Amino acid sequence: MANKKLTPDSFFPAIFFAAFFSIAFVVIIAIIVTQIKPRRHIEETEFTECYEDLKGRDYRGMVNTSANGHDCLNWDELDDKYWVNPVHFPHAGLGDHNYCRNPDDDLAPWCYVDRISIGWDFCEVSDPRENCSVTTVAPTTTIGIFATTGVPELSECFGDADGGDYRGSVNTTVNGYGCQMWTSQSPHIHVYTPSNYPRSGVGDHNFCRNPDGRASAWCYTTEPSIPWQHCNIGVAGEHCETTTSPAHTSSAAPAHDT
Ligand SMILES: *[C@@H]1O[C@H](CO)[C@@H](O)[C@H](O)[C@H]1NC(C)=O
Ligand SMILES: *[C@@H]1O[C@H](CO)[C@@H](O)[C@H](O)[C@H]1NC(C)=O
Ligand SMILES: *[C@@H]1O[C@H](CO)[C@@H](O)[C@H](O)[C@H]1NC(C)=O
Repeated sequence: MANKKLTPDSFFPAIFFAAFFSIAFVVIIAIIVTQIKPRRHIEETEFTECYEDLKGRDYRGMVNTSANGHDCLNWDELDDKYWVNPVHFPHAGLGDHNYCRNPDDDLAPWCYVDRISIGWDFCEVSDPRENCSVTTVAPTTTIGIFATTGVPELSECFGDADGGDYRGSVNTTVNGYGCQMWTSQSPHIHVYTPSNYPRSGVGDHNFCRNPDGRASAWCYTTEPSIPWQHCNIGVAGEHCETTTSPAHTSSAAPAHDT
């Protein structure tokens, strides 16, 4: 009976084995995690077709077929046979996608296209631009105005009290003057060009906007003696009803009372 007691002789090996297996378990988990983590590496990138480098090393667009029409392979699914992978090139735009990239200083963006031969192929992406921060090509904004093709998608619905997010088509001022195009410097010279104010809704049009925090949307007038005036765009939320309201029949017309 006495030998059923836990003596120091039997106690220490038990502790020792418990500790050993705990440590071994932690080490194994740690190894698994460090093996998995690089594979799951995803760069937080805003995808854009605009890039500046002549070789496209900064290309972060979404072309995912090669110039010869092959589907690109997902970079994150490449194993060590593929020398160019997210582990070896961690800051090159590779990740959980199959978009063409140029991580290895090749001539142009490319992608792997064949798992058996480890074949790769160049991609046809748009030409580089001189300065992507002044481009008028569709910026990937969350405002949604240039969500598709770079053509403004007009909406009279806005939420900011000062009309800063107004993207409608009112193009006359409160006193009925026509608006000057934001891309024109005539009759009034100004700095509110699309390149200077890229995310404020000004563009190759003459719709009232508020790029600079005035009390309400405004525009330069086509009248040489009147520099600028506010516009009647209604109030925030006024034109945000969906089609359930019978009184609301037009969303593209200038601000009106119903
Ligand atoms: C290419 O990417 C688009 C999303 O941008 C996706 O819908 C399409 O399935 C992809 N094509 C291939 C071949 O992976
Ligand atoms: C690109 O344009 C921005 C905004 O106009 C300017 O601040 C920047 O210096 C330009 N960069 C180059 C390389 O031209
Ligand atoms: C305002 O826009 C309408 C079309 O939406 C156009 O017919 C009209 O000529 C424009 N007015 C001015 C002053 O630009």
